[in-house]
Amino acid sequence: MQDGVWTGSGEGRSGIILVRVTVLEHRITDIVVVSQGESSFAQDAIKGMVARALEKQSILDDVDAITGATLTSNGMIEAINMAIRSALGQGDSGKTIYKDGSCDVVIVGAGGAGLTAAVQAASGGDLRVIVLEKQGILGGNTNYSTGGINAAGTQAQRDLGIQDSPELFYEDTMRGGKQKNIPALVRSLVDHAAATLAWLSSLGADLSDVGLMGGSSVKRTHRPKGGTAIGSHLMKVLKEASSKSNIEIRTSNKVIGLISDAGEVRGVKVENADGSTYRLQAKAVVIATGGFGANLEMVTRYQPSLSGFATLNHPGATGDAFSWLADVGGSTIQMEYIQIHPTAEADNHILITEAVRGNGAILVNRAGNRFVNEMETRDVVSSAILNQENADAYLVFDQSVRSSLSSIETYANQHLLTEGTDLETLASKAGLPASAFCATMVRYASFQKSGVDEDFGRSSTQMTAALETPPFYAIRVKPAIHHTMGGIRVDPEMHVLRADGTPVPGLFAAGEVTGGVHGANRLGGNGVADIVVNGKIAGQNAAEYAK
Ligand code: FUM
Repeated sequence: MQDGVWTGSGEGRSGIILVRVTVLEHRITDIVVVSQGESSFAQDAIKGMVARALEKQSILDDVDAITGATLTSNGMIEAINMAIRSALGQGDSGKTIYKDGSCDVVIVGAGGAGLTAAVQAASGGDLRVIVLEKQGILGGNTNYSTGGINAAGTQAQRDLGIQDSPELFYEDTMRGGKQKNIPALVRSLVDHAAATLAWLSSLGADLSDVGLMGGSSVKRTHRPKGGTAIGSHLMKVLKEASSKSNIEIRTSNKVIGLISDAGEVRGVKVENADGSTYRLQAKAVVIATGGFGANLEMVTRYQPSLSGFATLNHPGATGDAFSWLADVGGSTIQMEYIQIHPTAEADNHILITEAVRGNGAILVNRAGNRFVNEMETRDVVSSAILNQENADAYLVFDQSVRSSLSSIETYANQHLLTEGTDLETLASKAGLPASAFCATMVRYASFQKSGVDEDFGRSSTQMTAALETPPFYAIRVKPAIHHTMGGIRVDPEMHVLRADGTPVPGLFAAGEVTGGVHGANRLGGNGVADIVVNGKIAGQNAAEYAK
């Protein structure tokens, strides 16, 4: 390493992390984190990565992320490595500056939908597939996804004796979406989901744990054994599959428009990390850029009632793709349908998965009382919370629920749990009135045992725990912007459609950027189902079109 002060940047959970690395006599002597907006619980990860780099004195290529702060750890690793590469004379950012070129299929966006489309498109081994990602890291909102993937009629359900069918899945999805979903898109989703999960398993995914989410009649939300978060697992599987298929992924490459000729899409215009631009010609283009839940101007333009809400979205979910459509005649649908998730941790805006309620948790208000069937659809539960004093609630569960779902360990590592060895202690620590809270817990336990929720009609299958096993836990939650359900109009083959319903030749889309699958309210677990099922269909059809 050359002596000097070298800078690097990486993308953490809450945006860009900047570091300054000092090298003296060819050794790293100091690392200063110049700028970062990570939450207080992630500060240990930041300090940990600095300590590791000082100890290792080289690129952090085999360092594991710190549990509970994966995105912050990865952002720190990226930033430190960028600075060290500069010191090694390997260029300021280590990123290539691309020039005009061509390929068979270009995928825009390297989240779950984009990488699924890429892996499928490249599966024949005869096409050159390039994925463009404007962020410095892969994953988009998939990195935050926790609860699981919905599918009906899977091997995992059969192994667990769960009776389900695509028909029941269809009915639940349409009912959850208030019958506003495009029926053909829902039909395709439910009919392809089980086979898509089998395909993911063949790539190495573990989808053996099956849980319940709000609005689903039976357990159909698939995740890794023990209930760990689906998103990071899925991204690991898809990254490995991409690399085996020789898919080229270009990060910090921002698409700024489409190239078209006589109405047919022929590629994309791209901005390099240094601001220079290039044209990438392609026989087919798949837009998989995600939603616009981080673009609060756009959210409130389509849904003014969401003014002032926090967002659970990654910073890149800004809806850039919508401005590219006009040139080629693509259209959008149901842009005003934007979902708020009921249980975002109130101070740090961290998603607390619905699976915690699915595995038994209840919600109480500041008076210590329940106020809703916690397993209702998200629109109902969010609206009930917003009607409580302070528009927040406490998600309450016991050790049996914690033991059933590993993703709760992440919340524990993030110091999000208030813990009590008994109910009175929990009430006192959470600031709840003890007598009312204890009475609520006793009454709920009696409902759980009788199988009849006399207050809010939570069904016996939805009351999986009596919540009597100490210690007890609470997390203060408040609804936050979660998913943009409207988007690009597509058909079940994932062709982008014009307003008259005809396809734009050469253009496909998949995932949260599309609209119509979820109607007015998405069911938990259907977001990841959408990205993998429709990502795969888009990849398949783009590849066929390119050929
Ligand atoms: O609550 C959750 O785990 C979210 C899942 C989803 O939006 O599908």
